[in-house]
Amino acid sequence: MDLAQVSESMICELYERVRYQNSSDKLALTVNEKQKLKLSWTTFMGANPTQAGLDMFYRMFEKYPQTQSVFSFASTKAEGQMQDTSRLMLHITMVSKMIGNVVDDLDNMESIVPSLLSLGGRHGTNGYNIPKDFFPFLGESQRELMKEKLGDSFTDDHNALWTKLYQFIIDTMIEGQEKYN
Ligand code: HEM
Repeated sequence: MDLAQVSESMICELYERVRYQNSSDKLALTVNEKQKLKLSWTTFMGANPTQAGLDMFYRMFEKYPQTQSVFSFASTKAEGQMQDTSRLMLHITMVSKMIGNVVDDLDNMESIVPSLLSLGGRHGTNGYNIPKDFFPFLGESQRELMKEKLGDSFTDDHNALWTKLYQFIIDTMIEGQEKYN
């Protein structure tokens, strides 16, 4: 990136930050709801966040095999071999990290919205080329696994909150796919 590109991306980031601050459809969550999201995420990630991320992707690949095709480096391998695919592992780590960043920033979402928009842009047709219909599948897999792992402590309330937060994440990414592609 040259200096002009750096300045342009800083201006875009600032613009999106201010735009979100002034928008009427900000993500509205109470203190209690934010606590529920944070606690359930930390418990779900547990002592082995890589395994939690891996489970999410395997669940998605199992239920929606079409999603595996975009990971060209993983599509021809059996599950056991895929575990060794460092690129897939890196991706899984990055996705979990990004969701973790969103959860950490629930009190100031304007800090994370610009990153989600540009991340969405990189998932667009000029980037990883991910059909927008694929995005909900990952959230669905995450919620299913949270229910399985957290049991009764993952209530319908938690499910609704995660549906809302994940929808916000993917709506922002999809907006970025169209805008920053
Ligand atoms: C909440 C949803 C998602 C988040 C937060 C997310 C996040 C990320 C991040 C952080 C990267 C690393 C590269 C970068 O920063 O540009 C990445 C790359 C990528 N993502 Fe996602 N992603 C999401 C959903 C998906 C879905 C549903 C798919 C496909 C089914 C997908 C496919 C890919 C692919 C193919 C790459 C490139 C990997 C590579 O070439 O190494 N992502 N994603």
